[in-house]
Amino acid sequence: MNQAIRPGPDIAQQSSGQLQLSVVVPTFNERDNVTKLFHKLEATLSGVAWEVIFVDDNSPDGTWDVVRGLARQDSRVRCVRRVGRRGLSGACIEGILASSAPFAAVMDADLQHDETQLPKMLALLQSGQAELVVGSRYVEGGSADSFNKQRAGASALATEVAKRVLRVRVADPMSGFFMIRRDRFEELAPQLSTQGFKILLDIVATARGELRTVEVPYSFGSRLHGESKLDSLVALDFLGLVLAKLTNDVVSLRFLLFAMVGGTGLFVHLGTLYVALKLLDVPFGEAQAAGALVAMTSNFILNNFLTYRDQRLKGFAILRGLLAFYLVCSVGLFANVGVAFSVYKQQPIWWLAGAAGALMGVVWNYAMSGLFVWRKR
Ligand code: GDD
Ligand code: MN
Repeated sequence: MNQAIRPGPDIAQQSSGQLQLSVVVPTFNERDNVTKLFHKLEATLSGVAWEVIFVDDNSPDGTWDVVRGLARQDSRVRCVRRVGRRGLSGACIEGILASSAPFAAVMDADLQHDETQLPKMLALLQSGQAELVVGSRYVEGGSADSFNKQRAGASALATEVAKRVLRVRVADPMSGFFMIRRDRFEELAPQLSTQGFKILLDIVATARGELRTVEVPYSFGSRLHGESKLDSLVALDFLGLVLAKLTNDVVSLRFLLFAMVGGTGLFVHLGTLYVALKLLDVPFGEAQAAGALVAMTSNFILNNFLTYRDQRLKGFAILRGLLAFYLVCSVGLFANVGVAFSVYKQQPIWWLAGAAGALMGVVWNYAMSGLFVWRKR
């Protein structure tokens, strides 16, 4: 086939021809919001050659289907449908990388972000005054009145931590509304975390003050339809991001959570051992085995709930995963003891040998669990 590829009619019709702005909208269960957002973009960006890329994580409500419908009628709309994956940051990253305009904006689908700021944000980038423009709730003229007390407190705390610990000099690094030069973004992209939801904070922290940034105030509105996808566990994602950035990505949140869950396993093991030995009069060997089994099971449940919550196993897959986890951990125990022995033979320091063995065990369990238990589809 030797057909020439032509630009879609809508883009060709644009006054300036060349695509100027790609708006990236991550979606999960937003079917009632996307059409409204598209029309609002259309109205506000009338003088601009733009496109919108919805990145949908296979929403059960079929958001992708609604977006496809829009895309069929207007080639400025595109739909990236991801299957077997979840995550706001990862969706934004993929959306920006799939875009082709020199500037990319990220915004919520639920109309909480004020799209009428987009032309102003674009002008700041085009004039070269900024490489990153942040829609900010925390500069003069901005607000987040729609937040309840709890959420406002959490947001303020996270912002404070980000500023102090990561030395970020942006008033609202938690904003989910921003526009960036795509070339600068692509330089940073390989170092960004796909886990979690704080993509702007990640960008700013990774750039280490090298991105000329301007903040424009806006008021964070109320969600049109549906509900927020951010639950209280996002605090964990946030901590993980702070840790990763502080340690230059040596420590990943997933590994840290996995190791912490392993730590709780020790207490579960000892507790079970105590109950079996002292209260149920079970012989030591059996009690120890029961302790190990209960600890592995509770580790599995916690990991499925926390460490791998973006890939949580459900239904029958839980059973298969649990069995695989038992297997992985059993081999991990051999690795643990083996390493501890060989260290001890060379250097008979009990705690050093013990710690080396434990580290080997957790690294093994972590690596193998990622491969065989919570493997990416
Ligand atoms: N693809 C994809 N995958 N999209 C997601 C996911 C996901 O796992 N989780 C959420 N989204 C989409 C939502 O559908 C929405 O369009 C957008 O990401 C933001 O999610 P909300 O559920 O609306 O979050 P929020 O309003 O509570 O918080 C937002 O505003 C804050 C303040 O600006 C987010 O943008 C936060 O990042 C931001 O801090
Ligand atoms: Mn929202």
